[in-house]
Amino acid sequence: SKEQPLAGKKVLVTAGPTIEVVDAVRYFTNHSSGKMGFAIAEVARQLGAEVTLVTGPVQLDEPVGVEVINVTSAKDMYDAVTKQFNEQHIVIKAAAVADYRPKKQHSRKMKKQDDDLMIEMERTDDILKTLGKLKTDQYLVGFAAETDKLLEYGQGKLERKNLDAIVINDISEEQNGFKSDTNAVHVLTNKGFNKAIPLKSKHEIASQLFSIFIGEMSGDGS
Ligand code: PMT
Repeated sequence: SKEQPLAGKKVLVTAGPTIEVVDAVRYFTNHSSGKMGFAIAEVARQLGAEVTLVTGPVQLDEPVGVEVINVTSAKDMYDAVTKQFNEQHIVIKAAAVADYRPKKQHSRKMKKQDDDLMIEMERTDDILKTLGKLKTDQYLVGFAAETDKLLEYGQGKLERKNLDAIVINDISEEQNGFKSDTNAVHVLTNKGFNKAIPLKSKHEIASQLFSIFIGEMSGDGS
């Protein structure tokens, strides 16, 4: 229907940061609050979709009517998302996933030493890139948090990761990106659609994103 264009569709959204453990007390994480991903999950539900939200640790209330899967590390998120991927129609990766994790994770507390400490980091698996390879007819959307050359780096991710669309965040502005209730984004799609969405609440951004994605999926070019 017009109000529930996603009725009968399954939408998977990721949100929040990941946590990569160093030892029993220390970890690496990032500034993601989960607000953008949660807003996307809420709007998808309002549009009639059956929504799964895979989220890292955040301080937000669970959206009503959404299945929430809590994860901690990039590896946990990889496992949860790849397990669910086959049956989804739309997958939107708004999470800020760690690119590196400590090579060794100590289950005990590391003792302080007098000299400097080196922590060796290894790459995590790129979830989005994996999904781009596994993709059959899912509509796959990535996010890109950038401070420089936004469109160029965004276009690169769109192509390299075999995405249908990428939502580029300029995180050099305080009211955009991490933690804020508002965002301003630039959307690129693999069909050549290119649009800037100016500063709005994350909820309104999510609504506009779905009208773009739904338009592209139905092929009406809107
Ligand atoms: O959570 P908020 O406080 O509301 O902030 C919103 C946000 C800034 C976190 C969000 O809108 C955003 O931009 N998310 C993507 C942040 C990010 O990790 O960007 P990236 O350019 O490093 O990653 C690109 C894409 O690859 C992302 O879709 C990311 O989920 C994905 N990725 C990255 C690394 C990895 N190992 N696996 C991935 O799937």
